[in-house]
Amino acid sequence: MTAAHPLRVLVVKDDKTSSTLTRRVLEARGHEVTVCETAEHALEAHERRPHALMIVDWQLPEMDGVEFCRQIRRQPTNADIVILMMTGRAATEDLTTILEAGASDFLAKSPDQLAHLSTRIAVLERTVAERGRRRQAETALAVSKAEFETIYRSIPDAVVFTDTNNRIVRVNPAFTGMFGYQSAEVVGRALGEVTTRGRVLHGRFDEAADPGTQSASIQTKAGAEVLAELTQTDVRDSDGRLSGHLTIYRDVTHRKMLEARLQVADRMASMGTLAAGVAHEINNPLTFIMGNLNFLGSELRDIAGPEPSPRMSELHQTVHEALEGSERVRRIVRQLKTFARGGDEVVGPVDVHEILEKTLTLAKNNIRHRAQLVRDYGEIPRVVSDPTKLGQVFLNLLVNAAEALPLGRAPDHLIRVTTALSDDGRVMVSVSDSGSGVPPDVAAKIFDPFYTTKPVGEGTGLGLAICHGIVTQLQGEIRLESEPGRGATFTVLLPVAA
Ligand SMILES: Nc1ncnc2c1ncn2[C@@H]1O[C@H](COP(=O)(O)OP(=O)(O)OP(=O)(O)O)[C@@H](O)[C@H]1O
Ligand SMILES: [Mg+2]
Repeated sequence: MTAAHPLRVLVVKDDKTSSTLTRRVLEARGHEVTVCETAEHALEAHERRPHALMIVDWQLPEMDGVEFCRQIRRQPTNADIVILMMTGRAATEDLTTILEAGASDFLAKSPDQLAHLSTRIAVLERTVAERGRRRQAETALAVSKAEFETIYRSIPDAVVFTDTNNRIVRVNPAFTGMFGYQSAEVVGRALGEVTTRGRVLHGRFDEAADPGTQSASIQTKAGAEVLAELTQTDVRDSDGRLSGHLTIYRDVTHRKMLEARLQVADRMASMGTLAAGVAHEINNPLTFIMGNLNFLGSELRDIAGPEPSPRMSELHQTVHEALEGSERVRRIVRQLKTFARGGDEVVGPVDVHEILEKTLTLAKNNIRHRAQLVRDYGEIPRVVSDPTKLGQVFLNLLVNAAEALPLGRAPDHLIRVTTALSDDGRVMVSVSDSGSGVPPDVAAKIFDPFYTTKPVGEGTGLGLAICHGIVTQLQGEIRLESEPGRGATFTVLLPVAA
């Protein structure tokens, strides 16, 4: 009978007859056999070409079989080799010596040794095969563990393993990158304690998410906010018992901001069309209303003469108020048009600091009684714009900043105008105030036309809508950052003139 897997076998025997018989038994089973008469030769032969199975006599000239075994086992790479020791000794301590030297098995010399050898080799073939399989499984396990580690360490999403009590067992490097906590700071702590200090968001932010995905705003260690989409999965052991949970966080802060900005831009575009239409429709009737009121006024003055009766004066006053009202309507219509058109008359490279200075002169009276003005100007290149339009943007922002501050407490408040080159190479102009800031629900609507928190008749709510229109037309961006109670910062980002 031949073996399923032919092996390379090393036979170490100085007795010719015995080695020839052994060789025959082995070759009959299909194995490839090398015979050596001394242990030294055998070590060399194995060095040249490794063997899976060794059949070794204890009694050998010079180095004996037991020492040979020790030498072979000294090499870690030889750990899987199966060694069968042939011996005439059979006392317990002899056998202990053989096994301690590293032999896998022994065969006592006897008259029917040959028959025993054949059976014993069949058993050893299985041992060799099993060791091979185990080694393969171990290698495969090591490879897949290494693969897992590579994936776990390199995925950009934060991954957290928690036990059944939701205590953190392990976090990947992306978790540290996203939330700022080192692994040692969070292992053993409850996941909820570490990551849900922020709000779980509902509403708009949630709408597009998958059913298994939650969206949350999570506070980092440094206190910043990360908008994350998180997915949680149960982890089960091979018996199907729950062993913990896997939570994956994807940072969607940037994407959500872009989406929000696109939404605003979209809304602005349709509002712009509407505004242009409304402005146009109002303009014509307004022109003749104002014309007629002016005519009425001057006719009344003529009729009344130099000393008008109280009744005439009252009539005249009424016409005057109607004219004032229509004047206000006319201003709104003009602003609506600006909002609708944005800054379409782009002229050329302009000096932002020059425009800021002119605007500050205009806004001086608004600011003077409410805040101290701080200029924090950096080195910035010119931008492409119509100077009037850009001035209008800055004026609206400065007036808003002033209006966010109380009258008469100028020493306690600041309006800071900052210019700089942003990281992405755009010109950045920001106007900050130390007022009460903008609550999140107001911030969502602040750029909408006609959105105002001022009393009826005081603000049009068009200021920021106009700023947005102009800045967008200039291929720029306008952003609000505000923490309630800590003032507001409006930042305008504009492309540099080529
Ligand atoms: N610096 C700021 N601090 C706090 N809230 C602000 C600030 N700037 C704007 N806002 C809020 O945004 C709203 C809209 O501003 P916007 O300039 O569009 O209109 P308005 O100032 O109300 O009206 P108008 O500009 O016609 O006077 C304001 O009513 C106010 O609630
Ligand atoms: Mg305003």
